[in-house]
Amino acid sequence: MRGIFITMEGPDGAGKTTQINLLSEYLKEKGYEVLVTREPGGTVISEAIRALLLDPAHTEMKPETEMLLYASARAQLVHEVIGPAIESGKAVISDRFVDSSVVYQGIARGLGIDTVYAVNKPAIGDYQPDVTFLLDLPAETGIARKKEQAELDRMERETIEFHKKVAEGYRTLAERDPGRIFKVDATLPIEVICDMMKSRVSGLLRR
Ligand code: TYD
Repeated sequence: MRGIFITMEGPDGAGKTTQINLLSEYLKEKGYEVLVTREPGGTVISEAIRALLLDPAHTEMKPETEMLLYASARAQLVHEVIGPAIESGKAVISDRFVDSSVVYQGIARGLGIDTVYAVNKPAIGDYQPDVTFLLDLPAETGIARKKEQAELDRMERETIEFHKKVAEGYRTLAERDPGRIFKVDATLPIEVICDMMKSRVSGLLRR
């Protein structure tokens, strides 16, 4: 029996982790075995690639290299972890997926949406999320939240113009694919956001 695949997206500092934890508890209550994973990362190889990607020292990294490294980390995660989990009936929640590459590399870096999809085809195969939550918030708010929490990584150190393109890129994507991408105002209280997500997910659950 095939499981379900949920992805969480949004600009840096949107509060994805908090919502993923709440959604994971909900799915466990509904009887699912839940697998939470993150991108880039989630396997030994993908975590090594994550370290390369996010190291603030790597200021010379080219957009093309960045796009291919994100796709490589994703390929390993999908084929080693996400695919098998879905096939075995689990509920998989991924903190980011290919939409992140479409928005960050395709739109904000300007490499083009079609190029990003083409490069990611071998990485994701036929795995598409059943539902994607977009935690939408102004770029400035997200980065301000990040600055309070920890040292900024290479991506978070990008200009505010870059982060604005990311936030806007996500909105464009959500408008194009309203059947899959469910946009939520990330400035709402945590419980309100969580309730909206649960009611969207409840339609996907096994009876
Ligand atoms: P994330 O783990 O969500 O950051 P944090 O845990 O610090 O909140 O994501 C790491 C960064 O990588 C984030 O800035 C978004 C970026 N990213 C891309 O640019 N492209 C991608 O394909 C993915 C998955 C992430």
